[in-house]
Amino acid sequence: MCGIVGYTGEVQAAPVLLKGLEKLEYRGYDSAGIAVYDGAGIRVAKAKGRLQVLRDLTQDGSLIHGTIGIGHTRWATHGAPSDVNSHPQVSDSGKFAVVHNGIIENYLELKEKLIKKGVTFVSETDTEVVAQLLEYYYKGDILDAMIQVLRRVEGSYALGVLCADAPDQIVAVRKDSPLIVGLGQGENFIASDVPAILNHTRDIYRLNDNEIVVLKKDSVQVFNMDKEPVEKKVTHVEWDISAAEKGGYEHFMAKEIMEQPKAVRDTISPRLRGGRVVFDEISLTPEQIRSFSKIFIVACGSAYHVGVVAKYVLEQTVRIPVEVDVASEFRYRSPILGPDTLVLVISQSGETADTLAALREAKRLGAYTLSIVNVVGSTIANESDDVIYTWAGPEIAVATTKAYSTQLAVVYLLSIYLGDLLGRISLEEYNSYIGELEALPDKITKILEHKDNIQYLASKFFNVRDVFFIGRNLDYAMSLEGSLKLKEISYIHSDAYAAGELKHGTISLIEDGTLVVALATQKRLFEKMASNMKEVKARGAVVLGVTTEDQKQIEKEADYVFYIPDACPMMLPSLAVIPLQLFAYYVSSMKGCDIDKPRNLAKSVTVE
Ligand code: M6R
Repeated sequence: MCGIVGYTGEVQAAPVLLKGLEKLEYRGYDSAGIAVYDGAGIRVAKAKGRLQVLRDLTQDGSLIHGTIGIGHTRWATHGAPSDVNSHPQVSDSGKFAVVHNGIIENYLELKEKLIKKGVTFVSETDTEVVAQLLEYYYKGDILDAMIQVLRRVEGSYALGVLCADAPDQIVAVRKDSPLIVGLGQGENFIASDVPAILNHTRDIYRLNDNEIVVLKKDSVQVFNMDKEPVEKKVTHVEWDISAAEKGGYEHFMAKEIMEQPKAVRDTISPRLRGGRVVFDEISLTPEQIRSFSKIFIVACGSAYHVGVVAKYVLEQTVRIPVEVDVASEFRYRSPILGPDTLVLVISQSGETADTLAALREAKRLGAYTLSIVNVVGSTIANESDDVIYTWAGPEIAVATTKAYSTQLAVVYLLSIYLGDLLGRISLEEYNSYIGELEALPDKITKILEHKDNIQYLASKFFNVRDVFFIGRNLDYAMSLEGSLKLKEISYIHSDAYAAGELKHGTISLIEDGTLVVALATQKRLFEKMASNMKEVKARGAVVLGVTTEDQKQIEKEADYVFYIPDACPMMLPSLAVIPLQLFAYYVSSMKGCDIDKPRNLAKSVTVE
């Protein structure tokens, strides 16, 4: 999704903006631009393509002078990627420059009205409507104009505005799109995400919906829609700067894969005390938990796949029926839920528009909402009744790895906690689950030590056209994730199937040389998986099996095998996912793909 940066201070703004935008590149973009007030007016430089194009155009920012400015990386929604559609968008007279993340849903209606009043539009973007509206309503007070505009626009937005009439300030606002304020000494910032400002400050304000900030180099004021001042609490970001750097790795994805043992340990350890699972952070009472007759899980993409694992695990350990929904489907299908329902919301960013909408729908229907989120203070975290944070640290690569693994860790913790509270697991099971949980980080490390074996397998298959991932039960859930990981970063077509479903249609796609990744970690289903491997091999498939070290009989069925350490069945997904991530990574690397920023994708999907 689009990235926004704004700076006001003592030093030249353009290089600061370019550096900030670089840190937001992971969000995905197709063009970039900056606007700086140079003492005479607003100077804009923008271009389709990578940030390097803008760097070249401005000679690393040195051609544009001024100490206040806004910058943007655009992920096209309204209008194709082009120079003219890039942000900042400027009003007719050049007085207002605007950067925007989100979608103005009623922009066509507003655009038509403005055209009738003689306003000329140059781009196809919805954002230009905001710039033109600001100019239309401006009577000498930007804040007043901004409030008028916000009353007219519908949709989601994070906006940064520079006005030539007030060149000492940036005005910014957000609704359903992320925006933070960075608080410095003699300089202040706005940004879509923390990495953009981490080199300058760790003190931030997280804006709530429709809070408008007026940013000057030595002051930051926040107002509500009635123009009343709002008191904000400073949040201190604990991240190490190195957490948002590649640290010697070629890609963020590689670094984040390798960080998984630590991320999982950091997520588990604070919640284990004296051999017990402790959730100090949630206010859910045992009485409330006992009142739940149903659990819903809503999420998107990989977080949804965690939800699929969670369904199997929760139903087994807690014995409450669980439904898992893709968040974008949930709110439009009239789900049946109420106060006796626990809705689990899973999101790395805490800003995914579909997941946020599902959360709001669940709350509207009276359910209790508990979110599993990585980004502290994000909208989903703030709006949920309770939040359990995953301590994965910043995840920069578009393809999620360590956030996924930490979400799984929370699912296990929560299942054990709820299962125990409801008396659904014995003391013996409880103690054994705790031991298994504690052992996970070391087992992940052990798999990572054998990453060369996966690299070798990737070298055999990086040229294939189609890959099928198959598995049963929890291995089916892993197939979903393995398939998504591969296709999103390598652009190889791949699909995931419940292995038992193959014979109902998909098996017709198998031909000589088709790669089938067969996940067979679940012992009680191994024989069934062996039959499925036989079925596809008989039709010409090459089988790459993934199983536990003690299930050597897989060698009779699979052409290639990757072994993972054994663990209790419900926690095997935490181990099985590692070779799948590595396989996707190496295949993508061998194909020369842009691993951290795959085409058409954004890290945080803040539009529906
Ligand atoms: O930030 P979220 O966890 O809500 O994001 C959900 C999905 O967009 C995300 O998991 C996506 O599928 C990843 N790119 C997968 O690697």
